[in-house]
Amino acid sequence: MNGKRKVLAGLAFGAGLALVAGAALSHGDVTPQAVDVSTLKPLGTDWHDVNPYRNDAAAIKVGASAYNQNCARCHGLEVVSGGIAPDLRKLDLDPDTDAYFRNSVLAGKVRNGAVYMPPFAATLSQEAIWAIKSYIETRRASLDQ
Ligand code: HEC
Repeated sequence: MNGKRKVLAGLAFGAGLALVAGAALSHGDVTPQAVDVSTLKPLGTDWHDVNPYRNDAAAIKVGASAYNQNCARCHGLEVVSGGIAPDLRKLDLDPDTDAYFRNSVLAGKVRNGAVYMPPFAATLSQEAIWAIKSYIETRRASLDQ
């Protein structure tokens, strides 16, 4: 009796996860896309803690396209969240937040085996990650409108 309950609970939990995965899939291609950063100043192999490209026009351009390919399906077109994932325009502009942003993108958001956000360490270079951050920062102003 007890064992049967456990199986049923497990099935319900699995169905819930499938729903979450389905919601992410319906937002388009879930394969992370590589980003061409050849127009950007190379950043070397040491990880920066603070966005080195802030207000850099070339980085913002690369970041906009990289964001659309890799992040928009969950965090919203033009960084306006539809509610499935946090609104990234609201991130503070300070060194702690920059490092938190970088670590979140590298490691993704995985809790108890559930992937809320996939890790991007294998796909995005340091240049691509800071370019995306620079683009997101340009969208902050739209919060005041
Ligand atoms: C499959 C959907 C999905 C994709 C794709 C995705 N994210 Fe996320 N992201 C989430 C969810 C959901 C959370 C909240 C996770 C949690 O509850 O811990 C999150 C959290 C974050 C956070 C932490 C925000 C906070 O307020 O704490 C950052 C930063 C972030 N994502 C950046 C990105 C960037 C940049 C990209 C693209 C390179 C990206 N995400 C792609 C779903 C996604």
